[in-house]
Amino acid sequence: MKGILLAGGSGTRLYPATSVITKHLLPVAAKPMIFYPLTVLMLAGIRDILIISSPHDLPRFRALFKDGSHLGLNISYAEQREPKGIAEALLIGADHIRGESSVLALGDNIFHGHHFSDTLQGAAREVEGCVLFGYPVHDPERYGVGETDGDGRLVSIEEKPEKPRSNRAITGLYMYDHQVLDIAKNIRPSARGELEITDVNREYLARGQARLINLGRGFAWLDTGTPEALMQAGLYVQTMEERQGVRIACPEEVALRMGFIDLEQCHRLGRQNAGSAYGQYLLSLVPA
Ligand code: TTP
Repeated sequence: MKGILLAGGSGTRLYPATSVITKHLLPVAAKPMIFYPLTVLMLAGIRDILIISSPHDLPRFRALFKDGSHLGLNISYAEQREPKGIAEALLIGADHIRGESSVLALGDNIFHGHHFSDTLQGAAREVEGCVLFGYPVHDPERYGVGETDGDGRLVSIEEKPEKPRSNRAITGLYMYDHQVLDIAKNIRPSARGELEITDVNREYLARGQARLINLGRGFAWLDTGTPEALMQAGLYVQTMEERQGVRIACPEEVALRMGFIDLEQCHRLGRQNAGSAYGQYLLSLVPA
């Protein structure tokens, strides 16, 4: 299974913080935002990851993650010249995912909750068609909204509906089987000129092959698109981290727990950054 991390876009709503850098590299509680969706892919068991961003920002991602081998990953990079829609990521990543199932994660989505890795790995084991993740929100009219039958099969997708049939927003994490490339190739730009991921999902729905896994109310799915939301996400993460003494979305720790790197490598990464609380945290993961 292959991973795609989409981190382009315009970041218009976060101006001026995004005037010279993509929002995905802005800190959320002292970590670049991209760490959060990166660790989601890792927790799903994915090691082959393509990062897509603008020509302007891609060099910064390369500088940050290099080839990913220090995390036991294989990270590659591709440009999205202009933000022409989320579904374009599948076409840009065609060579990367060819013939395999894939997970597309939006670079600005933050997930946190109990047993999430079990949920992800369970879903990744049996991707037939597409698997989406729904989250209850108080303002579903702002989102793509999914409605399911008793078996978790998706029965409708509505895009920013005035009268939503459910309160389940479809989150920025999409699992697809091998059919996705053929489907993505056949969709056309919408009225706003973008290749819409909703159109890909609608095709799976039409084929009766779309599932929606409901992330419960005990779970956190955080937005980072506006200054207020970004600040709130940072406060949430900081509160949880301070209370529990563990870090959320620390790629080195996830790599260690997933068996992608060993204790020695984790220790080495900690030592390289021993002057920071983050480095000290990595060192604390390794028994003396
Ligand atoms: P959006 O939040 O829809 O857009 P944005 O990030 O450009 O921000 P703004 O609305 O403030 O201008 O994008 C959702 C995610 O998808 C975000 O991580 C950026 C990413 N994205 C791309 O990488 N390429 C695209 O073409 C689009 C539409 C989004």
